[in-house]
Amino acid sequence: MYKKTFMRVLKGFVVMSTLISPVVALGAGNIELGKKVFNRCKACHSIKPGKHKIGPSLHGVFGRVAGSAPGFRRYRGLKSANWKWNKTTLNEYLTDPKVYVRKNNNKRRSGMVLKLKKKRDRQNIIEYLKLLK
Ligand code: HEC
Repeated sequence: MYKKTFMRVLKGFVVMSTLISPVVALGAGNIELGKKVFNRCKACHSIKPGKHKIGPSLHGVFGRVAGSAPGFRRYRGLKSANWKWNKTTLNEYLTDPKVYVRKNNNKRRSGMVLKLKKKRDRQNIIEYLKLLK
């Protein structure tokens, strides 16, 4: 009797949590929330191809070699970088660009300092960046 009720409640929880958090469970980001995070990048980055500000255009950045946005000549920390931007490299870079660049590109000094401390913010912005093709 009690067991049945308990099982029912348990099942309820399972159904509820799968409904609420399919995205969270997969560890993938949310594009709409990523767009909001991008408000913190806008001052320096455009998403239009070839339109550069203080930082390079982020159009097509996902999957591209770091430091290679066509026409952007003010790379500092990312100059001559030899890695591609994917989920892993972007996640690490956006956690702390200064540390990432020093570690991975011959102790260069990063031209970007903004850090995204929250993992969710990083996951969401990465999902958004993927779209910019
Ligand atoms: C104050 C200006 C500034 C802000 C704000 C800023 N960036 Fe940057 N970003 C730069 C600069 C400058 C570079 C080039 C860095 C270098 O060469 O060391 C860069 C480089 C990058 C790159 C690598 C681009 C490439 O072509 O390899 C990515 C990805 C990036 N930024 C993402 C972001 C995201 C996402 C945000 C917002 C959460 C953000 N940036 C906020 C200035 C900024």
